[in-house]
Amino acid sequence: LSAADKANVKAAFGKIGGQAEEYGADALERMFTTYPQTKTYFPHFDLGKGSAQVKGHGKKVAAALVEAANNIDDIAGALSKLSDLHAQKLRVDPVNFKLLGQCFLVVVATRNPSLLTPEVHASLDKSLCAVDTVLTAKYR
Ligand code: HEM
Repeated sequence: LSAADKANVKAAFGKIGGQAEEYGADALERMFTTYPQTKTYFPHFDLGKGSAQVKGHGKKVAAALVEAANNIDDIAGALSKLSDLHAQKLRVDPVNFKLLGQCFLVVVATRNPSLLTPEVHASLDKSLCAVDTVLTAKYR
């Protein structure tokens, strides 16, 4: 991530602000609908529309993305525990991270179109890829 990317990501999350948790829930809902294979990791969740569990999980995912944005120079350190969890326990196939990232970008585009200039789009995409890399770094 370049200095400009880092600034774009921080500014974007600053604008998303307190709505981040809704963005997270929307991104999950979109992922489960668009890519139903992702539902296999959540057999214990109610995945129906408006599910409280999906909302709750969206809040956690969003908090992790905000944490990454706030620690953009050390995403690996900031998400270290989450990296352990996804790699050692959940073992989510890495392809799924791209799907969630794409869904998150679509949510940004639909909820806040003026925010998502091509430059911001590129920077957010790079930062989501950086988060994916961290969350799948400890697979073995
Ligand atoms: C749990 C973040 C991608 C499946 C979690 C938690 C967070 C999180 C914060 C909760 C950890 C805790 O409770 O301590 C993220 C982020 C992602 C990502 C930031 C990428 C941007 C994915 C993907 C899948 C997935 C792509 C599968 C399609 C799960 C599952 C849990 C979990 C199954 C456990 C849910 C539960 O039982 O409560 N994730 N995640 N994650 N994640 Fe991820």
